[in-house]
Amino acid sequence: MSHLLSCHSLKRQQGDRVLLSVDQLVLELGQTYLLTGANGAGKTTLLRALAGLDSARCANFEFEGVQRSLSPYPRKLHRRIGFVHHHPILFSTSVVANITFGLHATGASRPEAAQRADAAITWAGIRPLVDTPPQALSAGEKQRVALARVHAMDPVLYLLDEPTANLDENGRDLVTRLIDAISKEGRTLLIACHDRELLNLSGVTRLNMTAGRLEVAS
Ligand SMILES: Nc1ncnc2c1ncn2[C@@H]1O[C@H](COP(=O)(O)OP(=O)(O)OP(=O)(O)O)[C@@H](O)[C@H]1O
Ligand SMILES: [Mg+2]
Repeated sequence: MSHLLSCHSLKRQQGDRVLLSVDQLVLELGQTYLLTGANGAGKTTLLRALAGLDSARCANFEFEGVQRSLSPYPRKLHRRIGFVHHHPILFSTSVVANITFGLHATGASRPEAAQRADAAITWAGIRPLVDTPPQALSAGEKQRVALARVHAMDPVLYLLDEPTANLDENGRDLVTRLIDAISKEGRTLLIACHDRELLNLSGVTRLNMTAGRLEVAS
């Protein structure tokens, strides 16, 4: 396997408080990582830093073999790295408009955005939801729309923050199947989750966070 992402001394500080202090993080191409840790351990903070949503410092950040900075975060990485929030925020427009929004924002033409959104809707099995107002969707349905939205961008790295938390068994199953499909497409996933809901996925690497520090779990 080859490195997709590597960084050293990844730090995020708020005032005097160190929220993140990761000596080394290496993500291999095509691998799925489950990131566990107690509430407040820093899982979301790590995902948000890698997605460029919060600033963080890093001694040596390499992505797809190219030296990058985390701060300022390169625009190009927003297409390569997709983040899905624990409670995805959807615009009160339509499911399709939610999926095409990011595509338009990153320069896709109207026909291309429409075609990619349509493919993502098929992929996620959410065609029956396209006429439902986004704000009326259930938590599991929102999560699947959010996964379709990020899948339409075709990122190489997916950062998923507790994608199955608070879902019933059926919702968990549907979301897990999409995650499994992403993994089978050869993409890399870093998924924050809690021990009690560890996803039923094979061949994963477990990472654990404690007080902003990262370790490979046994
Ligand atoms: N903007 C901020 N300012 C100050 N503290 C923050 C900020 N963002 C996060 N924190 C703190 O950083 C720590 C890590 O939070 P984070 O949300 O990353 O934890 P988590 O592992 O995702 O927890 P959970 O399992 O509850 O989702 C927490 O103590 C939190 O209060
Ligand atoms: Mg969190």
